[in-house]
Amino acid sequence: MLPPYSRRSHSFQPDCHGAHDAPARIHGKIPSALNALYYAQRASAALIISESTEVDPFSAIDVPTRPGLTNDEQEAGWRLVTDAVHAAGGKIYIQLSHMGRTAHPSQLLNGRQPVGPSALAAAGTVYTAKGAEPYAAPRALEIAEIGDIVAEFAEAAARARSAGFDGIEIHGANGYLIDQFLRDGSNVRDDAYGGSVKNRTRFLLEIIEAAKAHWPGNRIGVRLSPTNTYQGMSDSDPVRHFAEIAGLLGPEGLAYLHVVAPPVQPEQYVNVVDSTPAAFHRPLILAGGYKRDDAERALTTGTADLIAFGEAFISNPDLPQRWYQRATLNAADKSTFYTQGAKGYTDYASLELVAD
Ligand SMILES: Cc1cc2nc3c(=O)[nH]c(=O)nc-3n(C[C@H](O)[C@H](O)[C@H](O)COP(=O)(O)O)c2cc1C
Repeated sequence: MLPPYSRRSHSFQPDCHGAHDAPARIHGKIPSALNALYYAQRASAALIISESTEVDPFSAIDVPTRPGLTNDEQEAGWRLVTDAVHAAGGKIYIQLSHMGRTAHPSQLLNGRQPVGPSALAAAGTVYTAKGAEPYAAPRALEIAEIGDIVAEFAEAAARARSAGFDGIEIHGANGYLIDQFLRDGSNVRDDAYGGSVKNRTRFLLEIIEAAKAHWPGNRIGVRLSPTNTYQGMSDSDPVRHFAEIAGLLGPEGLAYLHVVAPPVQPEQYVNVVDSTPAAFHRPLILAGGYKRDDAERALTTGTADLIAFGEAFISNPDLPQRWYQRATLNAADKSTFYTQGAKGYTDYASLELVAD
């Protein structure tokens, strides 16, 4: 029997790119009043899905900008956020995530080796304190360790409930651990967690089942990115595999499936959503570079039930109102993404409200 996963292998990769003297947005992985303000400013969204939040209590120890939900202090920090969003009339789900092989040893406790479904390093480089470095080769998780990580997701799901969230989103996208299990470019296991699509989806399904101890299925969303190559991801047959994964998720009665599927795919990518059979899981949220018109088209043609927006909502706290009025949008300042303090975070202007 292996010692618990969380005491022997830690994975973390910050997505921050520097720190300023301004107050931290996330200090000690604990959300602050500034985070509460940021989210509350965006409460006019139909649903806010939070930033990716760590479920592993031993990862990201010294990284100030990545939140966790693994202890009482973090839970109390998130309570500030949920209270502020609810007071402003909004709804918020928290996105729960594990970094898996995308962690770099320099960011892990005691320089440990990252973990993944298989001992396959991601192609490309990862941002570290020393700049860009190649991804490290991960250690393939033992079966018992997989159960430990499922338990970590369940613990975070329980804390999400106590912290006052309206639901959770399980982060199965963008090259993190669940995505690494789902896609055959990163999962070459020959046990119950590899090989067939059903086996590769087992980890995700176990996390959903464990989360259901704390949430009804219709308060649990899942995010997937079947064609995204971010963080060295690949799959041999994304359309077929994605359709099968969506089929396996169908009986789970989820709140939604959230798919990164840009309205305009680069030529080399297939459009998984267009190519997926009618049995595809609903409600469906699509995301990835949607503008107002793309979004309206996807909604009116029935391709999607909801559209999620990233950058436009960062720089336009009142995005629905702006689109309703067909007002000009604030441009996002990419140089302030992942930095600290209020600049480029809570200082984007809303429209002046005009009385009728
Ligand atoms: C600053 C920033 C942070 C992001 N953080 C996350 C994240 O934590 N989890 C996630 O699934 N996607 C994250 N994304 C990706 C967005 O959810 C979205 O998929 C992407 O930005 C494309 O959509 P957009 O063109 O509407 O921005 C982030 C994007 C940006 C710009």
